Amino acid sequence: MNADEIRVVVADDDRLKQMAYQIRRRVFIEEQGVPESIELDDDGRAIHVIALAGARAVGCARIVPHRDYAKIGRMAVEREWRKHGVGRRLLDFILREARTLGYRRAVLHAQLHAEGFYLKAGFKPFGPEFDEAAIPHRRMEREL
Ligand SMILES: CC(C)(COP(=O)(O)OP(=O)(O)OC[C@H]1O[C@@H](n2cnc3c(N)ncnc32)[C@H](O)[C@@H]1OP(=O)(O)O)[C@@H](O)C(=O)NCCC(=O)NCCS
Repeated sequence: MNADEIRVVVADDDRLKQMAYQIRRRVFIEEQGVPESIELDDDGRAIHVIALAGARAVGCARIVPHRDYAKIGRMAVEREWRKHGVGRRLLDFILREARTLGYRRAVLHAQLHAEGFYLKAGFKPFGPEFDEAAIPHRRMEREL
């Protein structure tokens, strides 16, 4: 497995969005136990991206547009592809995309276990820990 083989694209049709959703189902609903109603929150107005290894989708993320910032979320990499640079490729792509859309600030709610991943990409924690879907999180932000 090599992140150089990975291609990140905007999931701009139903087939690609469905690929993203299948990863999210496996990672957030099945692996982490997040309820489906929370998992799908805000999806209609989001921009979705997927990481492809050949024809296979191995990671995904989304941007939910807000007035003053882009909210990054649903960052997920298939378990067997983790720690190979796929998440970083997805995050770099989505930050560039947010900047292209005119945003100057990215915000996310990081699961605490993933804070180190976002710190490495220049995000800083803000405020106290809180629970979302019974998982501890912290708000993080970065200038774009
Ligand atoms: C969090 C997640 C997206 C990271 O993806 P990944 O492909 O494993 O990350 P990468 O391999 O691109 O890692 C990039 C860097 O972050 C580091 N990193 C990755 N996961 C980390 C973690 N959980 N804690 C600390 N550092 C981490 C890597 O070591 C790497 O560091 P390096 O540049 O010094 O080598 C992935 O673990 C995942 O999908 N987890 C399950 C879903 C989830 O919890 N998503 C986050 C919701 S907020």
